[in-house]
Amino acid sequence: MGYTKSEHIKNPNQYNGEVVDAPIPHQSAKKMYIESYGCQMNFSDSEIVASILGKVGYATTNELEDADLVLVNTCSIREKAEQTVRKRLEKFNSVKKSNPTLKVGVLGCMAERLKAKFLEEEKIVDLVVGPDAYKDLPSLVQEVEAGRDAVNVILSKEETYGDIRPVRLQTNGVTAFVSITRGCDNMCTFCVVPFTRGRERSRDPKSIINEINDLAARGYKEITLLGQNVDSYLWYGGGPKKDFNKASDLQKKTAIKFHQLLAMVAVEQPHMRVRFSTSNPQDMTLDVLHVMSKHKNICNYIHLPVQSGSDRVLKEMNRQHTRGEYIELIDHVRKILPDCGISQDMISGFPNETEKDHQDTLSLMEYVKYDFGFMFMYSERPGTPAAKKLADNIPEVDKKRRLQEIVALQQEHSFFRTREFVGKVVEVLIEKESKKSTEHWSGRNPQNTVVVFPKENYKIGDFVQVKIEDCTSATLLGKAI
Ligand code: SAH
Ligand code: F3S
Repeated sequence: MGYTKSEHIKNPNQYNGEVVDAPIPHQSAKKMYIESYGCQMNFSDSEIVASILGKVGYATTNELEDADLVLVNTCSIREKAEQTVRKRLEKFNSVKKSNPTLKVGVLGCMAERLKAKFLEEEKIVDLVVGPDAYKDLPSLVQEVEAGRDAVNVILSKEETYGDIRPVRLQTNGVTAFVSITRGCDNMCTFCVVPFTRGRERSRDPKSIINEINDLAARGYKEITLLGQNVDSYLWYGGGPKKDFNKASDLQKKTAIKFHQLLAMVAVEQPHMRVRFSTSNPQDMTLDVLHVMSKHKNICNYIHLPVQSGSDRVLKEMNRQHTRGEYIELIDHVRKILPDCGISQDMISGFPNETEKDHQDTLSLMEYVKYDFGFMFMYSERPGTPAAKKLADNIPEVDKKRRLQEIVALQQEHSFFRTREFVGKVVEVLIEKESKKSTEHWSGRNPQNTVVVFPKENYKIGDFVQVKIEDCTSATLLGKAI
């Protein structure tokens, strides 16, 4: 999943006359304001929260000053993400001064990581709710309304929110996220997610298909199946993935894996674009690539984080594959899906990373020539295996320089990839107006590269064939044909 900057969630009731689960706000309705940080899963979770609280009379507002309840869906992935949230809490504190009845709740990974400690550390916070406890929000909010602090950070082995119909927030009415797994069992040593989002579990395919059919009926044209590690999806009737070995023979025989789910989704809605994120190299099977090649509506794009090109570092990170195995997987992708876009996540300055390790990362990038990437300096997270075992011993200047080198190389490769499209015709799903020009539309090609072109008579939600005439390293520029 790509990580996004803070986004402010608008009132879903204001969109397109679309039918949503939340009640239409009226004078006496209580209002909540939700802000989301971090991964797409958080944005998707906020839509679940809006649905749950919508049913007990909370309408969403995009005016902080109008809100009775402010919720901030937080991210713990790096220290900086947590600092950003703390700064936002200061802002909410100043709003509370002019509106003393305003309640402030913290959701998501920071809530899970810090638990009740949050109430002590940040006096402004009234409510702390972890990612698996959102169904308890109505009663927790009641507590808070009665003037008491409320906390629920219990992690669940089963909860997938499969029965909640998310309220689409900040929607363009065209693209939507559909979560298929929650939690992660991989225990990459640097990562806080297994601690904040708990054990991995998969969602009932029936509820996934229902959600997608519902989206199609409402005019959506593209869905992204979402999970920390989608390739590890496994439905055997519910419960944690790690208990699959305890399942009955029948459950094992009829279990549904990711490539099967992907095919089911593609067949169910053949006119809908299908994407998925995130893939983990250790769990991605060739079956997935074959399903992608068979179904034209599955976009040829794979986000395939590797973190490092050094075998030694991969091992210390507890990534369950070598550099060689990763290269083999890339070779399979290129062979089975010759025009597939591939993107990366990289970490610079992992404990004990040498210049040689760093050079290995650059040479792996040189081999793959990713379309784009998300690149970070290592940030030690309290409680993770790396924090316990390994000193955060790479000086900040080296972390930074290595990151800059990685980013600069990626920029070159991105430009190399976008240039390959010049002169070609690509299919674009129009999502929104271009940020830079009101006369142009913006959408993406199947490989997930942004394409900008003159509006003419096209509209949001149209699939358009665009001839690419020019490019930057991040954007393709063209004209509809
Ligand atoms: N499987 C997840 C990965 C979540 S974390 C997904 O769906 O995207 C996203 C990215 O953040 C990771 O791939 C990694 O590159 C980066 N990251 C995670 N923990 C980090 C840390 N402690 N320091 C720096 N970057 C980190
Ligand atoms: Fe984190 Fe590794 Fe899972 S990066 S989310 S522990 S796959």
